[in-house]
Amino acid sequence: MGQQVDNHINISGRIRMQAKNIDVFYGDKQALNKINLDIAANQVTALIGPSGCGKSTFLRCLNRMNDTIDSCKVKGDVTLDQRDIYSRDMDVVELRARVGMVFQKPNPFPKSIFDNVAYGPRIHGLAHNRQELDKIVDLSLKRAGLYDEVSERLNTPGTSLSGGQQQRLCIARAIAISPEVILMDEPCSALDPIATAKVEELIDELKEHYTIVIVTHNMQQAARVSQYTAFFHLGEIVEFGETEKIFTNPAEKRTQDYITGRFG
Ligand SMILES: Nc1ncnc2c1ncn2[C@@H]1O[C@H](COP(=O)(O)OP(=O)(O)OP(=O)(O)O)[C@@H](O)[C@H]1O
Ligand SMILES: [Mg+2]
Repeated sequence: MGQQVDNHINISGRIRMQAKNIDVFYGDKQALNKINLDIAANQVTALIGPSGCGKSTFLRCLNRMNDTIDSCKVKGDVTLDQRDIYSRDMDVVELRARVGMVFQKPNPFPKSIFDNVAYGPRIHGLAHNRQELDKIVDLSLKRAGLYDEVSERLNTPGTSLSGGQQQRLCIARAIAISPEVILMDEPCSALDPIATAKVEELIDELKEHYTIVIVTHNMQQAARVSQYTAFFHLGEIVEFGETEKIFTNPAEKRTQDYITGRFG
């Protein structure tokens, strides 16, 4: 693995999550090496870097999705509001409600639009009656920028929506359980440019209420939507900083080469 770089920068405002000295192994193979990263509250943090550098692996450390992969071992600490999420007394179901996830491919449940969004609130007991549930569903669809397009057909299947609408439905589903953090792994890679622009606009609005970590291969997207950017390479963070600085004046040559398309 390459040379370790001190990527500590001062984040203005509150820190929502902190990763400290994270190593991840799949069997004997090390996928992440000594990752340290602070995630600023109510900001968008972008994770960029070439394929296979460990972005998705790192994202999955933040809500313990790696626990579901048998060969995967995570070392180090991750905190959410200063509480260790890998401690024995952390309830993983509660954790994943607080740190929600949106995947690359829109994956609505084979249920109605309404039931897709109502699913989480129902299993977590967040609504006491139908009226409260309706309210949560409406608000989530509004925040996901989908309400106007679907309010007349909440009982039709989620899978009948366009790809971009399905992705916003998945965002509404994540929002419905009031997460603090939303992890997004290449949420726009299956979308056309218009749907992508909508989701990007949405991400910018969502940061008012949520902390967002987004993996993207699209440099313009990282530059447009995020306030902080971490550049991963070969399982390490080469550089982390304010997005504007990373894209206009990176400190590391490897970052410069990547953002200008010289490798990856
Ligand atoms: N389930 C798994 N089992 C074994 N190895 C894995 C698994 N998932 C990822 N890896 C390995 O870990 C390394 C990092 O993979 P990861 O998926 O985190 O990269 P990535 O940066 O998200 O790549 P991409 O941009 O292609 O999505 C790779 O070498 C990959 O082969
Ligand atoms: Mg990935």
